[in-house]
Amino acid sequence: MAPFWPVVLKQDNLFLRPLRFRDRRAWLKLREKNQNWFTEWEATIPNEFNEGKASFYQIVRNLSNEARTQRALPFVMTIDGQIAGQITVANINYGSTRSAYIGYWIGEEFAGKGYTPLAVAMAIDHCFQVLKLHRIEIAIRPENTKSLRVVEKLGLRQEGMRPKFLHINGDWRDHLIFAINDDELTESLVSKLKKS
Ligand SMILES: CC(C)(COP(=O)(O)OP(=O)(O)OC[C@H]1O[C@@H](n2cnc3c(N)ncnc32)[C@H](O)[C@@H]1OP(=O)(O)O)[C@@H](O)C(=O)NCCC(=O)NCCS
Repeated sequence: MAPFWPVVLKQDNLFLRPLRFRDRRAWLKLREKNQNWFTEWEATIPNEFNEGKASFYQIVRNLSNEARTQRALPFVMTIDGQIAGQITVANINYGSTRSAYIGYWIGEEFAGKGYTPLAVAMAIDHCFQVLKLHRIEIAIRPENTKSLRVVEKLGLRQEGMRPKFLHINGDWRDHLIFAINDDELTESLVSKLKKS
């Protein structure tokens, strides 16, 4: 059987590979440059829990622990070898659920070129074909038109609204839920996306 982690996925000049401690400088630079681009859509921790902002090392350590216990696939997206964004398959559940969530962001300088839909398709294909998961879910704020285009391009099913589902940019926000099941695909999601 293929190892759960580390995993590298590749399509053209887009690679999904593990986020590593040595990515610190490039990752921080990209984040700093794109602060305004992300803020409105950024997950936050409610003030009363006073956890403070996680450092890059804490983020990598937490994600790596999740990967080690087969609960997450923490990918960084690279485009022509440059760190461009992140895509995380998280909350992987087994048993009678076999499901996971996907979250993502990409730097503004790489946006609008279809990289995120391709990255999500690659991650979903891996989850269905290799991990044999049954269902993948993506939660999006109704105001996030750019992200809504990503799931639209992928043909994910809209299932409804979860009120105040996630703490984003300082408050609890409603999210629309989009999902896809493994048996809805007759070919890989990457080839379906490339044909569309
Ligand atoms: C949402 C996001 C990941 C989309 O990634 P992407 O790789 O640009 O995806 P696409 O290339 O398919 O572009 C999606 C839409 O974004 C919009 N868009 C693209 N570039 C843009 C830019 N520079 N400025 C404003 N909108 C832009 C377009 O409407 C595009 O749709 P179109 O292809 O029909 O024109 C990216 O915009 C992002 O990281 N945003 C900030 C963080 C975020 O919202 N994360 C998702 C939380 S659910």
